[in-house]
Amino acid sequence: MSFPAEPFRIKVVELLKPTTREERVRLLEEAGYNLFKVPAESIYVDLLTDSGTSAMSDRQWAALMVGDESYAGSKSFFRFEKTVQDLTGYRHIIPTHQGRMAENLLFHTVVKPGDAVPNNIHFDTTRANAEQAGAEAIDLVVPEGLDPAHRGSFKGNMDTARLDRVLEERKGRVPLVMLTITNNSGGGQPVSMANARATAAVCRRHGVPLFFDACRFAENAWFVQQREEGMANTPVGDIARAMFALGDGCTMSAKKDGLVNIGGFLAMNDGSWSDQVKHRLILVEGFPTYGGLAGRDLEAMSQGLIEVLDEDYLAFRIGQVRELGEAVSDAGVPIIQPPGGHAVYLDARAIAPHIPPHEFPGQAIAVALYRDYGIRGVEIGSLMFGHDDPATGQPVAPPLELVRLAIPRRVYTKAQLAYVARSVIEVHRRREALRGLRITQGAPFLRHFTATLEEVAVGVARPEAPAQPAART
Ligand code: F0G
Repeated sequence: MSFPAEPFRIKVVELLKPTTREERVRLLEEAGYNLFKVPAESIYVDLLTDSGTSAMSDRQWAALMVGDESYAGSKSFFRFEKTVQDLTGYRHIIPTHQGRMAENLLFHTVVKPGDAVPNNIHFDTTRANAEQAGAEAIDLVVPEGLDPAHRGSFKGNMDTARLDRVLEERKGRVPLVMLTITNNSGGGQPVSMANARATAAVCRRHGVPLFFDACRFAENAWFVQQREEGMANTPVGDIARAMFALGDGCTMSAKKDGLVNIGGFLAMNDGSWSDQVKHRLILVEGFPTYGGLAGRDLEAMSQGLIEVLDEDYLAFRIGQVRELGEAVSDAGVPIIQPPGGHAVYLDARAIAPHIPPHEFPGQAIAVALYRDYGIRGVEIGSLMFGHDDPATGQPVAPPLELVRLAIPRRVYTKAQLAYVARSVIEVHRRREALRGLRITQGAPFLRHFTATLEEVAVGVARPEAPAQPAART
């Protein structure tokens, strides 16, 4: 692996406790084969999410000490407000404890029952918050964004022709359009500046505001610089600012590109929307100058939003994800191409075609990665999104069965990711031995967090299924 080496050195370390395969077999059984229920201290490389898992810098830790904990008018808020205004150009800045609260406040303010909210692809919480407020959440990503093997540069782009049609057909029923940068649910794929500009133009023509779901704005700006014609010499910070300038506001989970463990914000130009949001904010989060966070969290977030635009950091960060993706892909493991900004997505349907969707091929791979190697990824497939058809009772599978390996920022070294690559390749090599699972106890919604499962008995449910591999230690 040859990505740019770590542009930092390590000042504080968190010790990892090695576990044996035997222990992991037991922990998996106790957790009902649900990796959300496995104790984190038994995991060697935790790739469950890149959200809230970043390592803060010495400057961020130092910033915590100057946090002003005043209930109202804290100087940490004013510093934060200025940082976000300088970055986004938006006038009204509302801190929240994380991204989904920004979504909740925004949609409950601007959405009326019967409305529609288009996006390239809504992230789960965005979709849920839009729907909860009474809107239909519509995904309008370009067609190649749904083709795992397609190697496009900007597979997160909005299909602007379809957006134009939706805005025409639903005149007066679309309070805002969202654009997710990068597009997490489509594999962390970026949106080009040209596409953001075209999306903004369609929105303007219809008089509809455009909001960015900006969790990974810096990673998106990096891809624009690297891949978009004529952008190679523009600093990433200028690209980010130029993209924000095309919109009217954004929701932000700073747990990603804010490089903090908790925090988020909502930013916008519309003063009347912002006033309404603040009334609700006081009810559910806190006073508008802290919004569900401590003053010190605001300080760490301000510093993180500056550091994340450092191009040496981004070269390392995106390089780390790319090299992991290329290492497994070059060894024949099917993944969403090209690797995204924050994660590598394994194509579970292609890896384990012998496991039908209702026996969760993605979960079978995730279980094998943990049991054999102590690595935790997350299934994004039938366990997370599948459901039973209410009419027939038959399981309905989502279009893709994936395992996401999300890379926390500044946390794992090159050697640890080389270990992940080798482990994924080994699981793939022995893929015929992967076993499906069935749910023994479900939950009415978001079942992937809490369901318990068991492995399908070999030779009983699927006589054609191969035997389990010999135990490894
Ligand atoms: N939007 C996108 C694109 C996200 O990826 C997330 C979170 C959110 C909004 C919500 O932010 O968690 O701070 O409330 N994604 C995490 C993930 C959970 O693992 O992809 P939040």
